Amino acid sequence: MAPQQRHQQLVEQLRQHDYRYYVLDDPVITDRQYDQLYEELRRLEAAHPELCQPDSPTQRVAGAPRSGVRQVVRAVPMMSLDNTYSEAELSAFAQRVASGLPPGSAPEYCVEPKLDGGSIELVYEGGRLVEASTRGDGVTGEDVTVNLRTLRALPLRIDTAQRLTLRGEVVIYRRDLERINAARLEAGEAPFANPRNAASGSLRLLDARLVAERPLRLFVYQVVEGPTLAPTHAATLERLAQLGLPTHRRHVVCRSLAEVLEATAQLARLRPELPYDIDGAVVKVNGYAQQAALGSTSKYPRWAIAFKFEAERATTRVLDVVVQVGRTGALTPVAELEPVQLAGTVVSRASLHNADIVGALDLRVGDTVQIEKAGEIIPQVVAVEAGLRPPGAAPFVMPERCPVCATPVVQAPGQVAWRCPNRACPAVVQASVLHFARRYAMDIDGVGEALVEQLTSSGLVGDVADLYALTLEGLLEMRRRLKQSAPGSKGAPRKSAKEPTKWAENVLAAIAASKGQPLERLLTGLGIEHIGQVAARQLAEAAGSLEALLTWDEAQARARLGAIAGYGPTLIDSVVAFLGSPDERRLLERLAERGVSRAQPTPAPARGPLTGVSCCVTGVLSRRREDVHALIQAAGGQVHDQVKKGTTYLVAGEKVGQTKLEQARKHGAAIIDEARLMALLEGG
Ligand code: IVH
Repeated sequence: MAPQQRHQQLVEQLRQHDYRYYVLDDPVITDRQYDQLYEELRRLEAAHPELCQPDSPTQRVAGAPRSGVRQVVRAVPMMSLDNTYSEAELSAFAQRVASGLPPGSAPEYCVEPKLDGGSIELVYEGGRLVEASTRGDGVTGEDVTVNLRTLRALPLRIDTAQRLTLRGEVVIYRRDLERINAARLEAGEAPFANPRNAASGSLRLLDARLVAERPLRLFVYQVVEGPTLAPTHAATLERLAQLGLPTHRRHVVCRSLAEVLEATAQLARLRPELPYDIDGAVVKVNGYAQQAALGSTSKYPRWAIAFKFEAERATTRVLDVVVQVGRTGALTPVAELEPVQLAGTVVSRASLHNADIVGALDLRVGDTVQIEKAGEIIPQVVAVEAGLRPPGAAPFVMPERCPVCATPVVQAPGQVAWRCPNRACPAVVQASVLHFARRYAMDIDGVGEALVEQLTSSGLVGDVADLYALTLEGLLEMRRRLKQSAPGSKGAPRKSAKEPTKWAENVLAAIAASKGQPLERLLTGLGIEHIGQVAARQLAEAAGSLEALLTWDEAQARARLGAIAGYGPTLIDSVVAFLGSPDERRLLERLAERGVSRAQPTPAPARGPLTGVSCCVTGVLSRRREDVHALIQAAGGQVHDQVKKGTTYLVAGEKVGQTKLEQARKHGAAIIDEARLMALLEGG
């Protein structure tokens, strides 16, 4: 291929991958694969400098901010770090540093973890956190101040008067992610592939309430603007910690390349014990005067390099590829593997996601495969060793019929997933009923996997509404039959074996009690596509009750849903399709007839420093008006569009209209500026 063509190809590919990584938080290749493509491009441009345009990925920091969110433009762009996997290149870096400094000035280095999360910039003014933004494309990031304020690791006030701009990384601890993922799986939502995706995805959520529920942490590692806290990077990290800011506290000062290598090896050994993911070590020249003397290229500082660790990988064999049918009917191929130790756990299965992915890997039963965690919680098959393939191994084909009910499977236009369209498929019914009864949904005690399996396979329960028609006789009869067909085996839970009547009464009481759950739990339990717990709560708040929801026609539904913050076309279409489906409507009607769910309580207003205070916000502020409203409400205050009798404050930005000011005087509302409001929010 001509160099020019290959160049174009690489540039396009890297742009695509940058977009997936930085904007979508959904990379499709490993960091290593990305670094290889990048390295190829860099070499190509070194050999053919005429190909290198200012817009090449080598010439700028990657990513583009999403639209629809307030953007923050930085005076000092966020740069990347040059990176390497080899000790030889690390030594070449040390030589470049030495030759860039006056002879005899032996540089000190600071070696520290390369945190694998989402980068963040924080601005403190007058000791207060006034702005937080994501990386974006380096120059322009997204304003996520409201989200960052929910991080308990982050002090909202620090003891410095001057403006201070800091950079750091938002991370999620592995053990926290395990909990989040367990809950997501239970709720039928896709788990996060790794802590990095979870952290950077959480940072950019539109609903700060949701962010507050995520156990995000943050480590600050750089001062980019503000007073010089200390003459070296290491001493600055210590000063930052003294100011109450979270730092990783894992830095080591080194005086020679040998010490640097030892420190990076030490970090690599420490890696599995750290609660958060790191993907390497960052080696920085410690003295700021030396950093300044070395300067930067257009992309990287010359005073730092990332020494990346190899991803954790293991080799194993594919014993089988089975196809699972989920709650939505989606067919998921899963590789059953010869159990293998990988990054601290034994792995025996790996989801292959969909038929396209199996096809792209050309994975076959009997194949030897590489699985990787690279910090990934969920192991991924990253490569197939085609050379080790046993003779006669056949390519995987998606079954034409559902492996559970034999209904021909379908693929919706534009979707990769194949689905079993049979709503009565035992796999689908079982998974739906189980989801409905789960703790995060209707929370029906005693209705677990074993009982749901029995209820559905005996035909007593064909959908969730049938739960509410169960009778004592029906349950006892089911148990008797199960006992006859399999004496002494599984059957109903053991502890209840002696008193079947008591057991059945308890089950019925738990089911009856669930009728009193608020509408949001019912909506969560119905498993409407794309509607998780938060979207269900919002929908429930908008509708009020199941009866009211049933009166919505399509036009009404679209109008009401369109008014919910965070509801875009995907969610709206999904709810509209659900309400418009005759089957689902009948199900809702049967649930309503049986008295299932109580009206959604109106959300209790938040309590805080502004409880009992009402505000009207006007003029041009440094934050978006909606964000200011959200901050006031989160602090317990009320927001009105007009100044009226009883309004406590008129929060006035720049260019305030005369009418508003007159109204404020007339009604005795105090006129305050944004800074005063921020102080009030902090209880000041
Ligand atoms: S210092 C000029 N220190 O890695 C960049 N960055 O690949 C100076 N990162 O954007 C950054 N851990 O998000 C620095 N200890 C650390 C880091 C670190 C992770 C991230 C950061 C940066 C990216 C560059």
